[in-house]
Amino acid sequence: MDDKKQLVAKEAIKYVESGMTLGLGSGSTVEWFLKYLSDEMKLGLNIVGVPTSKKTERLANHYGIPLVELAKETTIDLAVDGADLVFSDLNLLKGGGGSLVREKLIDWIAEKLVIIVDDSKMVNQSGQFEVPVEVLSFGWEKTKELIEAQGYTCQLRVINDETFISDNGNFILDCKVDKLYDLNRAHIYLKQITGVVDTGLFVNMVDLVMIGDKHGVREMNG
Ligand code: A5P
Repeated sequence: MDDKKQLVAKEAIKYVESGMTLGLGSGSTVEWFLKYLSDEMKLGLNIVGVPTSKKTERLANHYGIPLVELAKETTIDLAVDGADLVFSDLNLLKGGGGSLVREKLIDWIAEKLVIIVDDSKMVNQSGQFEVPVEVLSFGWEKTKELIEAQGYTCQLRVINDETFISDNGNFILDCKVDKLYDLNRAHIYLKQITGVVDTGLFVNMVDLVMIGDKHGVREMNG
């Protein structure tokens, strides 16, 4: 699995050009991408990055990748991010690492969004799915009830016996649903609940998906 992640992360470097501002995604595949990026920078590649999570920020600092704030004047030429699932229409399920809000903002702003995954992430849109939903900690149990009224069964994300807190200071609810026919509709219905900050459903955002498998890397255009 890690070989495939490594392979696709390395291949994605071909889309990076000197002078770019890059959105730096989150997750283990992107961690490989950061490593290869730092290798290229040692050879003269000149970029700056905007991290989608505190973890990515720490790693970029470790590799000496210069970072800039997401400010009014910031434009992002290319975002490279991972995903938890990629559906056949190239819509995404993300948030497994709990970074979905910053990821979505940066991925959305980017001129071009490239998703790098191994082939285990490619799925058909049938069966049960778990949608990560970032919610305010204030009154989260009420928010959970409102989400569950839409047919989901939600679990507060707990890691090592502690409630997971997102980089934005919020909670994550992992919301199971039997059928996820229309991702856009599901996202809009969830997002209209006041306590919901955002969902892990990334709809109509992707320009390119790069998939690492045992034969190499294949690409699918969004
Ligand atoms: C983070 O919140 C997620 O959206 C990640 O992008 C996703 O979990 C991908 O992670 P891996 O590359 O580790 O599979």
